[in-house]
Amino acid sequence: MIVFETKRLVFRRFTEANFPDMCQMLGDAEVMRYYPAVLDEAGSRAWLERIYMRYEKYGTAFCAVTLKETDEFVGQIGLLNHDIPEVRNLEIGYMLARNHWGKGYASEGARGCRDHAFGELNQDKVISIIDPRNEPSIRVAQANGMKLEKQIFIQKFNQVENIYSVSRL
Ligand SMILES: CC(C)(COP(=O)(O)OP(=O)(O)OC[C@H]1O[C@@H](n2cnc3c(N)ncnc32)[C@H](O)[C@@H]1OP(=O)(O)O)[C@@H](O)C(=O)NCCC(=O)NCCS
Repeated sequence: MIVFETKRLVFRRFTEANFPDMCQMLGDAEVMRYYPAVLDEAGSRAWLERIYMRYEKYGTAFCAVTLKETDEFVGQIGLLNHDIPEVRNLEIGYMLARNHWGKGYASEGARGCRDHAFGELNQDKVISIIDPRNEPSIRVAQANGMKLEKQIFIQKFNQVENIYSVSRL
């Protein structure tokens, strides 16, 4: 099921066909640098199950992102609904397989999510929750028109996070 498209990317709901690509991406230490741990196959399975659960519960979650031209898997980008008190707005989250870094796909995808949220999903504001050391992720948020709104301790992640946000004009 296609959720939306951007110039070079297609955003679909995840299916089991994406599992091998997810295992590879979530098992890459460089990709997982700002996450608590690299995931093995069982961890990747649990991650994918949480995405399915979010589709059911909230109607939105990470999408499987592929290239329009080749149908190659690029990564996961999407709108995340957090069940935590510190966060009230949908979060734009992004993670790309390492061989697709540095081509502007994350920035293009994040902007696509923002437009989808402000359009079809009728949201007034979207955020990104970013580890203050994660420079590439901060650049993606900035390319998405976001500004640093606040720095807060998030219990669930057990660390201080930067909250970037952008509101609909
Ligand atoms: C965050 C991530 C998606 C960015 O991917 P990317 O391919 O670099 O994204 P883009 O190509 O769209 O580039 C985004 C910007 O970051 C910059 N950038 C990339 N790597 C960088 C680095 N190591 N240091 C500083 N800036 C960097 C790019 O130059 C670009 O800036 P510009 O638009 O001003 O030129 C990717 O690094 C990733 O998947 N990281 C692991 C998962 C993760 O940490 N996700 C974020 C969780 S909050």
